[in-house]
Amino acid sequence: MSTSTPTDHPTNPLREGLSARPTPQPCNVVIFGASGDLTFRKLIPALYNLGADGDLPTAFNVIGFARREKTDEGFRKELEEQARKYSRQGINDELWASFVSRIYYHASTFENLEGYKALAAKLDALDASSGTKGNRLFYLSVAPSEFPVILQKLADVGLNTAKDGAWARVIVEKPFGKDLPSAQALNKVVNDVFSEKETYRIDHYLGKETAQNIMVLRFTNAIIEPLWNSRYIDHVQISGAEPLGVEQRGPYYETSGALRDMIQNHLLQLLTLVAMEPPVELTADAIRDEKVKVFKSLRPMSPEEVARDVVRGQYAAGAIGGKDVIAYRAEDRVNPESMTETYAALKIHIDTWRWAGVPFYVRFGKRLAKGATEIAIQFKNVPTVLFSRDVEIGPNVLVIRIQPDEGISLRIQAKRPGTALDIQPVKMDFAYGTSFGKASPEAYERLLLDAMAGDATLFARRDEVENAWAFIDRIENAWHHSDTPPPLAFYPAGSWGPKEADDLLERDGRAWRRM
Ligand code: BG6
Repeated sequence: MSTSTPTDHPTNPLREGLSARPTPQPCNVVIFGASGDLTFRKLIPALYNLGADGDLPTAFNVIGFARREKTDEGFRKELEEQARKYSRQGINDELWASFVSRIYYHASTFENLEGYKALAAKLDALDASSGTKGNRLFYLSVAPSEFPVILQKLADVGLNTAKDGAWARVIVEKPFGKDLPSAQALNKVVNDVFSEKETYRIDHYLGKETAQNIMVLRFTNAIIEPLWNSRYIDHVQISGAEPLGVEQRGPYYETSGALRDMIQNHLLQLLTLVAMEPPVELTADAIRDEKVKVFKSLRPMSPEEVARDVVRGQYAAGAIGGKDVIAYRAEDRVNPESMTETYAALKIHIDTWRWAGVPFYVRFGKRLAKGATEIAIQFKNVPTVLFSRDVEIGPNVLVIRIQPDEGISLRIQAKRPGTALDIQPVKMDFAYGTSFGKASPEAYERLLLDAMAGDATLFARRDEVENAWAFIDRIENAWHHSDTPPPLAFYPAGSWGPKEADDLLERDGRAWRRM
């Protein structure tokens, strides 16, 4: 009987990318910004869960790099407290003890060259003692303003280049720029030090289980792809809703807003997976080439089109789950006259043969009635002969639920039992929870594993990010730099967003789905 260990899955270069199980290689992961929220809530719990599932390489260590003085022990204690709260599978004391013994803390400012020299020495020592073979994954979990200094110092001590067949990679967190020029500048800073091949730009939506399933759904089911075009599809809705407000992130959000924070990256990434052509192979670049073509085909909007086809909204005071909540303008460290949008809805055209005349409606809002993300593909109606002559027949809708309740459903028409001919829509439903009986891993688990395996399929390539910004910048410019900026629409917290967003679809004889 053959047994399988985490590091012995054969890799066939022709089957890399989404088709193969990622094979992480022995490595040291260095987290810059180790005292930050992301480390405690997402990164360490994700690594622990990978370990608990037997997916980590046997030779593996984490080094947390941050300013404050701390001992390894102190750092480990803090991590444990938070991991107990945030780990998807809880914490098993024995597994945790073995996992945490491989986590170290390294105190240094980001500017101090000596700190990087000491880091290099520590990494060499760990390579020798634990067999990590000189492989290094640097995770920049810091504000983009810190990127240049960290990258420069890594280069100064030679940590950006790998020795003897080993690798050195960098993972960068969002926000990846705030417009096209800043994204280009940031890309230059990163790519001056790490090649594009070694650069992994995180978009955690790509790591979500159902997002990964979009390509599988489309390209492995004979009944789907033949219908996936303007001949059969009426329109597509991509919606994200959150009951949360901006919480403690007022200062960041004031420079960002919903369009930059959620749509430029997460929701447009989902859109590309829905709209792309089949890639020629399942390699990272073949897939991302197709996504880039979609980004390039997004029809640029003139200021008049922005005024007509984009709605920006902001939450006013209201109630969520029976509790009163304050308006965005009253949030901590938010300008009381802020024009920042906490909601945006857009009608997007994709100028390709496949999608000619099929609008993609995309919306996202904070402080909405419910938390959910979904993609709904609405098909065209059947011709109005036969059944639909006397009764109204609704369209088929294929809904891909990204979260919560991950799954896919198809709305079809059925005859209601009885002697009369009553037609009613019913749902065929696939739910991950019931079909597979296993909770999906968190997005960060998959993404960290992929980065350790050298698979960049689920990371945003430089040209994806820049083309997305080119599209978004025109909207931001129309909002902020035109003589007659479109108004900001207010909506009560706990609602489904501003009325203007409903009008956007109503004008086209359509309506948003209730999620
Ligand atoms: C982040 C945004 O990228 O994604 C947040 O900055 C947002 O504002 C979050 O709340 C949503 O992620 P998720 O996985 O909870 O849907």
